[in-house]
Amino acid sequence: MGTIQFKQLTFNYPDQATPLFKDVTLQFDASWRLGLIGRNGRGKTTLLKLLQRQLEFDGQLKTDLDFHYFPQTVADPSQLARDVLMTLGQLDDSTFWQIERELNLLKVDLDCLWQPFNTLSPGEQTKALLALLFIDEHHFQLIDEPTNHLDQDGRDTVAHYLQQKTGFIVISHDRHFLNQVIDHVLSINRADITVQQGDYQTWQTTQEQQTQSEQHQNSLLKSEIKRLNQTAQQKSQWSQQAERGKNAGSVKNESANLDKGFIGHRAAKVMKRATTITARSEQAATEKQGLLKNVEITAPLTINNQSLKPQQIVLTATDLVLEQDGRALNQPLSFELKAGQQVALTGANGTGKSTFIKALLALPEMQHQVSGQLTIAPRIKVS
Ligand SMILES: Nc1ncnc2c1ncn2[C@@H]1O[C@H](COP(=O)(O)OP(=O)(O)OP(=O)(O)O)[C@@H](O)[C@H]1O
Ligand SMILES: [Mg+2]
Repeated sequence: MGTIQFKQLTFNYPDQATPLFKDVTLQFDASWRLGLIGRNGRGKTTLLKLLQRQLEFDGQLKTDLDFHYFPQTVADPSQLARDVLMTLGQLDDSTFWQIERELNLLKVDLDCLWQPFNTLSPGEQTKALLALLFIDEHHFQLIDEPTNHLDQDGRDTVAHYLQQKTGFIVISHDRHFLNQVIDHVLSINRADITVQQGDYQTWQTTQEQQTQSEQHQNSLLKSEIKRLNQTAQQKSQWSQQAERGKNAGSVKNESANLDKGFIGHRAAKVMKRATTITARSEQAATEKQGLLKNVEITAPLTINNQSLKPQQIVLTATDLVLEQDGRALNQPLSFELKAGQQVALTGANGTGKSTFIKALLALPEMQHQVSGQLTIAPRIKVS
C-alpha cells in the first residue's frame, strides 16, 4: 500500500468567506487506521469528499488508491437488503458469500438479508453497509460516523471488527470507540491540521501538555507585557516632563550647570528608550497571539431552572408502559425525578428511549402508545 498526500490544499465552498482549508500539506500511509477528529463543521466530511475528488480544490492530491465511502447512498431502500447490497457492491450470487462472511464478523443475523432494507434497524443498516466496504481489500475506506445509530454492544462489535482491518479513515465523536480502533489521529484543529501516531488518549495527552505549556508561556508574557507597558509609560512621562521643564526654564533638582541642550538630549534618549520598550511589548503581544491558537473554547452549558425549588419533584411516572405497534416496550415503570437531577437514559437499540422522550413531550402521536401515568409539575416547560 502506498501513501496519500495533499500538497498546498486550499478549499472553500462558494459562499464561505474564509477557506475551510488553506495551504494544508498532509501525508499519511494507506495501511494506517486513522481517526479523523475535529469539532462539528470543521470540515471532516468535506476532507473525505476532497479525497474522493468530489469537490474541486487548489493544490495537489497524490494517490493511486480508490476509495469506498460509508454511508453509501441506497437508491431504493424498499428493495430486499440482499439486493441493495448486491447492487452497491456489484456482486452476483457467486460472489455474495463475501458479504455474508463480513456480516458474520459483524454479528448480523443473515435472515435480515431477506427483509426490505428500510425495515432493518438503523444498527443493522449500519453494519450491512460497513460489511460492503471490506469485501474488497484494494480500496481505502472512508468511514463517516459509523457509531451514530449503534448502541454500546453494536459499537463494541464494530470496534472489534475494525481492529482486524487496516487502511481506513474513520470519523467519530466517540472517544472510547476511537481508542479501541485507531493507530493514528488526524486532527482538524482551530488553526491547523495535524497527524499524530497513537490512539485518541495519546493525542489528548499531547494536546493537554501543549496547552499547559502554552498557558504557562502566555501568563509569563502577559506579566512581561504589563511590566514593559508600565516602564514605557513612566519613561515617556519623564521625557515629556523634562522637555516641558527645559522650555519653562524651571527644572528642579537638576544640577545648576546643566544647560537646556543637555536636558533636551537626555529627554530624547529617555523617549527613545520608551519607544524601544513599547516595541518590545508589542513584539511580546504578537508572540502571545501565536500561543493557544489551537485551544478549544467551550461555552458553559446553563440550564434555566431557577424557578424550581431544590428537591421539587418535576416528573412522576406511575406504571408507565410504552408501546410500539401494539407491543409493550417495557415492564411497568414508576419513578420520580427531582429538580437539579441529571439522569442518563440508557438502553440497547429498540428499547424505547426516543419513545420515552416523545411521551414526555406529549406528542399527539403518542396518545395511544402510552399507558399508566406521566405527570409533569405545573409550569415546567419541556425542551
Ligand atoms: N455543500 C455545502 N455548501 C456550503 N457549505 C457547506 C457545504 N457542506 C458543508 N459546508 C460547510 O462547510 C463546513 C464543514 O462542513 P463538514 O460537513 O465538512 O463538517 P464536519 O466536520 O463533517 O462536521 P460534523 O462533525 O458536524 O459532521 C461547515 O461550516 C458547513 O456548514
Ligand atoms: Mg461530518
